[in-house]
Amino acid sequence: MIRNTPETFGLVTRLLHWGIAGLVVVQVSLGLRIGDMQPGLSNLWLYGLHKSLGVTVLALMTARILWHLASPPPKPVGGGWQATLARVTHGTIYALLLAIPLTGWAASSATGIDTLLFDRWTIPPIAPVSPVWETRLFALHDLLTKLLLALLALHAGAALKREMDGDGTLRRMVTGRRTPRR
Ligand code: HEM
Ligand code: HEM
Repeated sequence: MIRNTPETFGLVTRLLHWGIAGLVVVQVSLGLRIGDMQPGLSNLWLYGLHKSLGVTVLALMTARILWHLASPPPKPVGGGWQATLARVTHGTIYALLLAIPLTGWAASSATGIDTLLFDRWTIPPIAPVSPVWETRLFALHDLLTKLLLALLALHAGAALKREMDGDGTLRRMVTGRRTPRR
């Protein structure tokens, strides 16, 4: 099933979920590496890769939002405070996965260096060249990523716990089927 239904996640949503999740793991690792480096000719490609994959995440998140407007995802399994917490967590993860690449792009613009995607396309600056803004925006980029990591720990932990409890939460994001164990 390509589309979501009131009970199940369709193929498009599942591919977007796991594809973006994989990219986020790579991006956090790459970001932490380059955050500790002095930019130079030998490591410039790592910066380019981080920027290119980061803008890809921004594009995929935009696609995910548009897709979910067209094909709404199912509500979290169960109800009560856990379902509310799941909804708030998912909403905040969405917001962060837009804000993190945007602050990275804005901070990169503030350096005055062209932002090049996959060594091929230059994207326009979205902030004026300013050392003060460069420092502030990179600090924000870093802080928002830390917040994301905390929420993802909660998110993955909750998904695993619910699966162990047997309500089929993880299974429906992996296989698209909802077959709770009894
Ligand atoms: C999912 C998207 C992204 C994630 C999770 C992410 C994460 C990170 C992290 C964790 C750091 C290290 C921060 C530090 O320790 O100071 C970092 C640094 C950096 N990010 Fe991102 N980033 C993303 C997208 C982007 C984008 C789209 C751009 C630019 C177009 C970008 C540009 C940079 C640059 C240039 C640095 C190095 C900053 C420095 O030298 O201190 N990032 N990123
Ligand atoms: C690492 C980056 C990850 C991100 C950014 C992320 C993000 C999200 C978001 C935003 C949703 C809400 C559904 C939607 O609107 O698409 C979701 C659902 C879900 N995620 Fe993740 N996720 C990540 C990793 C994981 C991991 C590692 C697991 C498993 C351990 C997991 C399991 C699930 C499950 C089971 C759901 C469906 C929850 C429900 O039924 O309501 N996710 N995820």
